Amino acid sequence: MNFASDNVYGVHPKIMAALEAANRDATHKSYGYDDLTKRAEEKLAGVFGCDLRMFCVATGTAANGLALSAMVPPYGAVFCHAEAHIAVDECNSPELFTGGAKIIGVHSGNGKIAPAQIERALKGFNKGEHDPKPAAVSITVTTELGTVYSVAEVKALSALAKAKGMGLHMDGARFANAVAALGCAPADISWKAGVDALSFGATKNGAMFLEAVVFFDLKLAEDFTYRRMRGGQLFSKTRYQGAQMLAYLADGLWLENARRANGLAKTLSEGLAKKNSVRIPLPTQANEVFAVLPRALHEKLQAAGAVYYDWSPECLGPGGLAEDEVFVRFVLSFATPEEDVEALLKL
Ligand SMILES: Cc1ncc(COP(=O)(O)O)c(C=O)c1O
Repeated sequence: MNFASDNVYGVHPKIMAALEAANRDATHKSYGYDDLTKRAEEKLAGVFGCDLRMFCVATGTAANGLALSAMVPPYGAVFCHAEAHIAVDECNSPELFTGGAKIIGVHSGNGKIAPAQIERALKGFNKGEHDPKPAAVSITVTTELGTVYSVAEVKALSALAKAKGMGLHMDGARFANAVAALGCAPADISWKAGVDALSFGATKNGAMFLEAVVFFDLKLAEDFTYRRMRGGQLFSKTRYQGAQMLAYLADGLWLENARRANGLAKTLSEGLAKKNSVRIPLPTQANEVFAVLPRALHEKLQAAGAVYYDWSPECLGPGGLAEDEVFVRFVLSFATPEEDVEALLKL
């Protein structure tokens, strides 16, 4: 019963098969000039219904840092949620890739930031060049607290960002889960809502090591090949990334996987909520369930072999936790066995 993360599960068999097929073919060029990578970019452009540039990298951390480096000068500032992965989980990688930009975390209760909060933060930027230059807003579409931005919320943030001369970056480590949850077209929650650059994640949803920086604002892609190379993120055997991306997108596998993970999260969340002693303080909108458990139940689940993380009670805001309660996170994957969810709910 492993609910620790969506990366504890493996590679989807169809993606593994695509890797094996790529492995049998020695005719491909290297360093991104292979046919699989070119076709993957075309396929992604079809999925989004627009012109775009796609640059595969190995990790979500690299995707975020490199994407931001194309949008933000070394003396710039990036506004994001205080719990954003770029702010608290990437060991200053965005600062490294941007050459020193400042990441400004803005607090809010549900993982999302709103225009008013950024406007408030901007009021502190009134000393000209003595402050960093506001340059980008970065949002995580399936947030670090399991909520999902609506199209209207992204549009509102984009309008503010544009009005203030900033770009909009989206961390889409769980982009598929957001699209599946919203039931919208990928375009609606990305470029049509004003997103300039997207970190398009696939690893958590069935790929082996595949994230892509996707630029909808094509100007940002200029010189990006140099940035990716300097960042050590240009694979010589890019065909294995292209092959994964093609298989991930083929016949909607990416959304099928995400729908399954989201569905299991809903089942788990609703099942837990039925237990009198459990609270679900944040809405389960994608594939993560945040719950407040009585310590006795937590100990029982752990003794039965359930694996999941304790989460910081600070995210709960005022009210917080009682002494005999714990705040935890369960993550559901495309490959989580349904029986594991049922077994956990029976405990
Ligand atoms: C929201 C979010 N962004 C980015 C990442 C980074 O991914 P990686 O671990 O591949 O660097 C993660 C991984 O947990 C994540 O949850």
